[in-house]
Amino acid sequence: MTPLPIRIRPEDERDRPAIHDLTRRAFAPMAFAAGDEQDLIDALRRLGALSLSLVAELEGRVVGHLALSPVTHESGAEGWFGLGPISAEPALQRQGVGGALIAEAKSWLAARGAAGCILTGDPGYYPRHGFLPAPEHAPEAEPAEFFMVLPLAGDIPPGRFRFHPAFGA
Ligand SMILES: CC(C)(COP(=O)(O)OP(=O)(O)OC[C@H]1O[C@@H](n2cnc3c(N)ncnc32)[C@H](O)[C@@H]1OP(=O)(O)O)[C@@H](O)C(=O)NCCC(=O)NCCS
Repeated sequence: MTPLPIRIRPEDERDRPAIHDLTRRAFAPMAFAAGDEQDLIDALRRLGALSLSLVAELEGRVVGHLALSPVTHESGAEGWFGLGPISAEPALQRQGVGGALIAEAKSWLAARGAAGCILTGDPGYYPRHGFLPAPEHAPEAEPAEFFMVLPLAGDIPPGRFRFHPAFGA
């Protein structure tokens, strides 16, 4: 299949309603979804914790989005980020939008010398992007079997991560 001619770029202010709406629609059919993923992005932005907000644009339309936010680790280790929510336009899924967003996020993390990135997600999808299952590092109250880590600069410190407090709000 021909790759979609998408452009990946940081969000600008005018994208915010489209990001909110896309995230709501992409997560709506997912059985695991809380249904408030779009509000989480708005909360992170409001709290100054949206470290990176990438959109995938196709013919002037937002068809994908990825958020990174700062996370903490019980050891005090610094430089770690959390990936998510991530979404692709439902009618355009499985055409590389999510993969292109993740690739760009990894470049952004590497360029900043980040220690690594964590997420809770489908173990069938993220390992192809370098994420490793790491149940022993999962935050309390997270489903450990869906917890994954991408170390970018050395080992994963022993102990648990914590997502930004907006995730529990
Ligand atoms: C997850 C998501 C962002 C992936 O974006 P995408 O543009 O569809 O993904 P890509 O086209 O880059 O990757 C497609 C590949 O990943 C696989 N894939 C996509 N979503 C998957 C999923 N949820 N579980 C397992 N595999 C998945 C596809 O099988 C495909 O593999 P193939 O090419 O070998 O067939 C998108 O499916 C989405 O918005 N889902 C709804 C919201 C969601 O679940 N977000 C993630 C929460 S952890």
